[in-house]
Amino acid sequence: MDHYKMPLLKRIINFTKENPISFHVPGHKNGAVFLEAAKPYFESILPIDVTELTSLDDLHAPHEAIMEAQDLAADFFGAEHTFFLVGGSTSGNLAMILSVCTPGDTIIVQRNSHKSIMNGLELSGAKPIFISPAFDESVHHYTAPNYQTVEQAIVSHPDAKALVLTYPDYFGKTYDIQKIIALAHQYNIPVLVDEAHGVHFSIGDPFPKSALTLGADIVVQSAHKMAPAMTMASFLHVNSTIISKDSVAHYLQILQSSSPSYPLMASLDIARSYLATLSKEDVDAILDSANRLSNVLEQGQHWQVIPTNDPLKITIQVKSGLSGFELADFFEMHHVYPELATDKQVLFIHGLTVFQESKRIENIVKSFNEEYKYLTNHATIEVSNLFKEPMTELALSYHEMFQLPRKRVQLKEAIGYVAAEAVIPYPPGVPVILKGERVTEEQIKLIQHLIKQGATIQHQGMEQGIQVFD
Ligand SMILES: Cc1ncc(COP(=O)(O)O)c(C=O)c1O
Repeated sequence: MDHYKMPLLKRIINFTKENPISFHVPGHKNGAVFLEAAKPYFESILPIDVTELTSLDDLHAPHEAIMEAQDLAADFFGAEHTFFLVGGSTSGNLAMILSVCTPGDTIIVQRNSHKSIMNGLELSGAKPIFISPAFDESVHHYTAPNYQTVEQAIVSHPDAKALVLTYPDYFGKTYDIQKIIALAHQYNIPVLVDEAHGVHFSIGDPFPKSALTLGADIVVQSAHKMAPAMTMASFLHVNSTIISKDSVAHYLQILQSSSPSYPLMASLDIARSYLATLSKEDVDAILDSANRLSNVLEQGQHWQVIPTNDPLKITIQVKSGLSGFELADFFEMHHVYPELATDKQVLFIHGLTVFQESKRIENIVKSFNEEYKYLTNHATIEVSNLFKEPMTELALSYHEMFQLPRKRVQLKEAIGYVAAEAVIPYPPGVPVILKGERVTEEQIKLIQHLIKQGATIQHQGMEQGIQVFD
């Protein structure tokens, strides 16, 4: 297939050239009706912000340009079918879970999954068996569940409707997912992969392989995270003899807007073409640039760059006496915005760019070294592994949770209660406490520690405590 082709983008552009008169939605009438002050920022995009008119196809029943664009994507990514998503990987994760299980079904899920996976479980009413990730002491974060844990879960629950994994993690760390997929398939269990951070893996060497080429049944990728697509634009790929794509399509049309954004969809056409047509020279230049940035960051005296599998993700780990949040604040003070901070780390996403401002970063690093010359160690709590059991279940079913009364208690008092809401540091969006989990002292200590260090917790009114089941 010709990956320079962008059929959806082309169709929209041709449509705008017809000088169309709009007697339809959207209300901005191809950009004519718009607040003057905001026009300069929007005027080039409004004419392509079209809708499902004749010849512009329909995301929920594609048969022309959108179908062609999705087919080109499926061909490039190596899928049997690719769906365009306009609600982020969030909508893809929800749809993939809903498409495989009904209330009460067992589903095996990596515990350190993004909240959209957890929300999918709740919507489905399934019974999750959580498998714990390993904790990598050297980099202070959870990685992936090991093979033995997955095996234990599958052997104990051979009737599971799916195995849900995340690959890679936020920091670009991968693992031998192929072996795990092969194991699940021996039991005829489909593998659903949240690959939100791995859309660029399909470029090929030197990036790790995508779970799609390693045999996963469904793979969801945020094109907007690591490829040049607009925010929320994502892909859902199906490659399965176990799961029907019709079931996925059914849930996507329930979950996604009936007026999906054409600029977003066109940006998926563009992102696929961009990835598919990058030359080896382009990729080499990008990697050189990422290496240069990594070398500059390595000059910091109070942190070190830690290894990962994705060369476009650069994570620095602070030495004791400093928190990742403080370090990220310092960069932000100089108008440099990292992707995410944790108590110990700061993640810089280099992305598919050739970065031109290394000098600016170098100066910030130098001024940090200078300002914190006499940094002394102060006590930081050691965050212990929260997930000691290889497999866990919720204390209550989603159906029971729906019926039970709730009350709000102070964080410290929540220990021993079953949480009626999740507590999620964002980013990365992996819940420390899950709705339906019995709250432990370790969880509360970690949340208190994160709050103290300045983490953003996605939770309404943490000062008033959290909701638990009464
Ligand atoms: C692992 C993971 N999955 C899914 C998502 C949701 O992706 P989106 O923002 O495209 O909805 C995120 C967002 O950060 C994520 O980190």
